[in-house]
Amino acid sequence: MTPQGGHKYPHPPSPADLGLLSDADAGAARRRTGADLTRMKKFRFQLLAEWIGANFPPCAVADVGGGKGLLAYLLQGAGFSCTVIDPVDQALPDKYRDLASGRQLKVPASASVPRLTREFRAGLAERFDLLVALHAHGVNLQILDAVRDHGVSCVVLPCCVIGEPSVPEIGLDWFTWLTDEARESGLPVEYFYLNFKGQNVGFYIRGKRP
Ligand SMILES: C[S@@+](CC[C@H](N)C(=O)[O-])C[C@H]1O[C@@H](n2cnc3c(N)ncnc32)[C@H](O)[C@@H]1O
Repeated sequence: MTPQGGHKYPHPPSPADLGLLSDADAGAARRRTGADLTRMKKFRFQLLAEWIGANFPPCAVADVGGGKGLLAYLLQGAGFSCTVIDPVDQALPDKYRDLASGRQLKVPASASVPRLTREFRAGLAERFDLLVALHAHGVNLQILDAVRDHGVSCVVLPCCVIGEPSVPEIGLDWFTWLTDEARESGLPVEYFYLNFKGQNVGFYIRGKRP
């Protein structure tokens, strides 16, 4: 089987399937319109930065497959140190819409985030406390190796199955397969979700660090 072909697998479980929604939450989620939740996807960096800030102390984070680096920028603002690890060098956006106020906020031209312009490998985890992967490609199994080998924590929202060294059989969804792989190697997986539509379920593993 080839390790490519991101869209041939079943959808991930929903927050309700993972036991993350109470009956009241599930009712409220059904009442929200699809358009509202689709619109929320562009706020995923703010939602995730807020979730990380509420669940981890300030520490050294790697934003693996971090693209333009907006998540890293927001985490820096929340007191974390954060390095983007991504083989494609990309500039920070020059602005983003603030979720709380609805206002457009400028990213100063002088702003930057540290970047390692290279593919992620588990050995890079030695210098970090927390690995974050939001819809990152080709890194999910390496992150599990890093958590196991280096005692680092991770927060992962898987997306497509692209560039991974091994993949589920057809018919199994990537999220369930990946979290089963983690559990089978003894890692304590916990679930969470963010409030937007599309690939919004994630898992986290607390290692010895931070
Ligand atoms: C779908 S984008 C997600 C970007 C960003 N995290 C977001 O949510 O918008 C996938 C990212 O993974 C990066 N990527 C691909 N292979 C990688 C690898 N081996 N190591 C690290 N990043 C990788 C790509 O360059 C791209 O920026």
